[in-house]
Amino acid sequence: MPALIEAERIEAAYGPSQALFGVSLTVAEGEAVALMGRNGMGKTTTVRTLCRLLPLKAGRVVFAGTDLGPLPPHRAARLGIGLVPEGRRCFAPLTVAENLTAAARPGPWDLARVTRLFPRLGERMRQRAATLSGGEQQMLAIGRALMTNPRLLILDEATEGLAPVVRREIWAAIAEVKRSSMAILLIDKALAEVVAVADRAVMLDRGASVWEGPATAVPGDVAGRYLGV
Ligand SMILES: Nc1ncnc2c1ncn2[C@@H]1O[C@H](COP(=O)(O)OP(=O)(O)O)[C@@H](O)[C@H]1O
Ligand SMILES: [Mg+2]
Repeated sequence: MPALIEAERIEAAYGPSQALFGVSLTVAEGEAVALMGRNGMGKTTTVRTLCRLLPLKAGRVVFAGTDLGPLPPHRAARLGIGLVPEGRRCFAPLTVAENLTAAARPGPWDLARVTRLFPRLGERMRQRAATLSGGEQQMLAIGRALMTNPRLLILDEATEGLAPVVRREIWAAIAEVKRSSMAILLIDKALAEVVAVADRAVMLDRGASVWEGPATAVPGDVAGRYLGV
């Protein structure tokens, strides 16, 4: 299948401090890829760079055949990348409905479909986001990204810090999004759940991609060395 996004040896820095030293990855149409690695290895920095929230210092990002390098950042979202950032940021003073519709773009994911995916959001449409539980805020962050009808959905630690029952709801939703053939780039520490939904895994170590292969076949020594499991 043709690559929907292709990152080639990307480098990025926070001011003078370089954080990425050569990350390469691809996600094909309809594919789910897990970006893995210990804390601080550059997963969030990689997705920030793919979304053009951080400048590309070196390397290349091609999305749906377009080289993102020369484009201003807001174009990346408009091209069809939906980011659910680390820390489930919602617009706290806005209601659930306002959060969902603020950035909505036409496509198969609309209010009805998002509330079928997350019935709890449907029950809380007029509540302010600030009054939601952590799990509901995460559902809202995912719903908001889906409402932009992206071609690629990026989830950065979407189940971090949530209770097991809520995590299960979120994993079920991610699996359903995958079945809708949306391409997904997924970061999460829950290895068993990641492996259940991801087709391939890319391992990061100190800001560089060091291994890639089928998610269900991460060799024990690779998991030990790069994940500490
Ligand atoms: N806003 C920032 N300013 C400076 N350095 C940062 C910032 N965010 C992350 N870093 C550094 O970049 C490296 C990669 O971090 P990050 O991409 O957040 O890792 P991960 O998501 O894999 O835990 C780390 O060394 C981290 O300290
Ligand atoms: Mg991170």
